[in-house]
Amino acid sequence: MKSRVKFPRTFLWGTATSAHQVEGGNIYNDWSKFKDPGSRAGQASDFFHHFEADLDLAAELGTNSFRFSVEWSRLEPHCGQRCPQALNYYHRLVDACLDRGLTPFLTLHQFTLPQWIADKGGWLNPETIDAFKSHCEYVADQFADRVAHFVTINEPNVQAGASYLAGLFPPGKRFRPDLADRCQAALLLAHGQVYKALHRVQSTRFPSSPLQVGISPHFISWTKSSWDLAGLVQGIGRQFNRALLDALFTGELKLQTLRRRAPEFKGCLDFIGVNYFMGLPAHLLGALRFMGLARKPVHEATGDNGWPVDSQGFEDILIGLSRDYQKPLYVTENGIADRTDLKRQRYLVEHLAALNRAMGRGADVRAYFHWSLIDNFEWHEGFGPRFGLYEVDYQSQERKARGSAKLYSQLIRQYSAVKEVPCYGQ
Ligand code: BGC
Repeated sequence: MKSRVKFPRTFLWGTATSAHQVEGGNIYNDWSKFKDPGSRAGQASDFFHHFEADLDLAAELGTNSFRFSVEWSRLEPHCGQRCPQALNYYHRLVDACLDRGLTPFLTLHQFTLPQWIADKGGWLNPETIDAFKSHCEYVADQFADRVAHFVTINEPNVQAGASYLAGLFPPGKRFRPDLADRCQAALLLAHGQVYKALHRVQSTRFPSSPLQVGISPHFISWTKSSWDLAGLVQGIGRQFNRALLDALFTGELKLQTLRRRAPEFKGCLDFIGVNYFMGLPAHLLGALRFMGLARKPVHEATGDNGWPVDSQGFEDILIGLSRDYQKPLYVTENGIADRTDLKRQRYLVEHLAALNRAMGRGADVRAYFHWSLIDNFEWHEGFGPRFGLYEVDYQSQERKARGSAKLYSQLIRQYSAVKEVPCYGQ
């Protein structure tokens, strides 16, 4: 029987959310006008009014960290006009985390752009990078005295593909690999600029506060398939996972339609955020399914949204990243869409076991954030998929613990306290 590796006392156990998916009332961003009114976020999980009670739930789980994003369009609904109420809300949110012993983990960009930026071309307009940098400097200036961990951009690889290949995210363009690549290149440059800007703010304004700045790509474990003639999909899959990271290490971005030198951003990374949900077979259908362009089979080994569960892939991804980049890894998202909570418990046990095995094999993993604390708005899939440890009734906004909430608490306790216990999920 294999045994578990003890988690360090500094390990961050958390849950993750993002502004537009939970806050409600975000009416000034590009998602608020995208698609038909019925498929918009509206009041979402009304976290804006429930955040204190929700953070109580996070603390009751025994977590010691909380990941959230700040909504640019809430802080700056119109170009150059800042909203003091929004700023006050985020101050209260950060303080509420700290009051409950939850280390705040702040994401600066999770898929939404203010409409006034989107109207000018969004990430395809080079001016967006400067505007985003100014916004991030403002956020750091306000919060870097109390927030030490910043994710610049959540899933740049998904943002580019969903916006310009699959047409699922604004501006809803399809089959434009050239634009998808330009978008990813812009996100790389935005990350690099913001990385430097945040460190500048910290060293001039808060020299005694620690600061860690990273980026969180979406990683898929692509399993080899005999249908992948000449390893084409495997190659594209690798590029999907790693193109931006490679660029931050080599100073050169290599995408399908675009090469871009960016030596000035080499080394601009304190940690790698890992968003991991699934494994996919490396063949065309696998890739199309991920992009929502082919039907996803829903069966026992998938979440309700058809994403195939693969905990071994999680271990492999962590080991590979740790070996190749030698940076601390923070698992910034991991979870499953499971309305009835019949699959989530096994998913949790198996994925934490995989993470622990990876640590046992030397991967420097420093955090695990379960996606998500509460059910939320799942982008193009609306309110269908349920990822929460807590179920949300969107009519009454009541929260109800799923069985997995209790299980997650138990696993945190066991992994933090016990030196060696039998390992599940082998
Ligand atoms: C995204 C989240 C999303 C989750 C589940 C991740 O790729 O970062 O915003 O809710 O997937 O769909």
